[in-house]
Amino acid sequence: MQIISCVDYADMSRKAARIIAAQVQLKPHSALGLATGSTPIGTYKELIRFHLNEELDFSKVITVNLDEYYGLSPEHEQSYRYFMQHNFFDHINISPENTHVPDGLTRDVAKTCAEYDSIVASLGGTDIQLLGIGDNGHIAFNEPHTYFFAQTHLVDLNEETIKANARFFESEVEVPRQAITMGMRSILSAKRILLLASGSKKAEAIAQMINGPIDPQLPASILQVHPNVMVIADEEALALA
Ligand code: PGA
Repeated sequence: MQIISCVDYADMSRKAARIIAAQVQLKPHSALGLATGSTPIGTYKELIRFHLNEELDFSKVITVNLDEYYGLSPEHEQSYRYFMQHNFFDHINISPENTHVPDGLTRDVAKTCAEYDSIVASLGGTDIQLLGIGDNGHIAFNEPHTYFFAQTHLVDLNEETIKANARFFESEVEVPRQAITMGMRSILSAKRILLLASGSKKAEAIAQMINGPIDPQLPASILQVHPNVMVIADEEALALA
């Protein structure tokens, strides 16, 4: 793993955005694996700035998001489709049909998951997969005790994640209890992984991911087997590594 230390969140966001922008410039048909959460918002802002000020062209880019709450419509303000539209897609020149987020309203979960994996497979894996990390070391909705070889699947959210995500909802009871998530196997099919982390709350998980054993208890630890992982993190998040 290559570790890039940043002074703060803004620095992390700029560095990540520059790498993604270079990828898109070098290969206009790039497939980008994207993430939601507070961590990548600054990166998306920088990329929007590159689009507006430096004509970074997303017209041929394909995106595949990691996950979606099960039961939320694309219009729901806490759905990840809504997040992506609001924080990124609505501000760049990407074709809507080139953006993929799992269908949170599907009635046929198995089919939706299989189709999602087919999209990723047809791309030969994403060129860059952007990731955040949970305080407990989860990646997307792959929670501790995860099965490392899972592809896209429906998961029950654990209590820790429900509590952590309750800040975005009116109350904890409104947080969906399930989500459709890419599994670690689908995530590891990316050619290159950029994992972002900011703040002291992530320090323990980052230290274990880098230095600890590969253990389903800390889903991010499986990234140690991927040949091309860059961890872009600020000093607080790297404090224990
Ligand atoms: P955050 O979430 O970016 O909001 O910290 C990351 C995650 O839980 O994967």
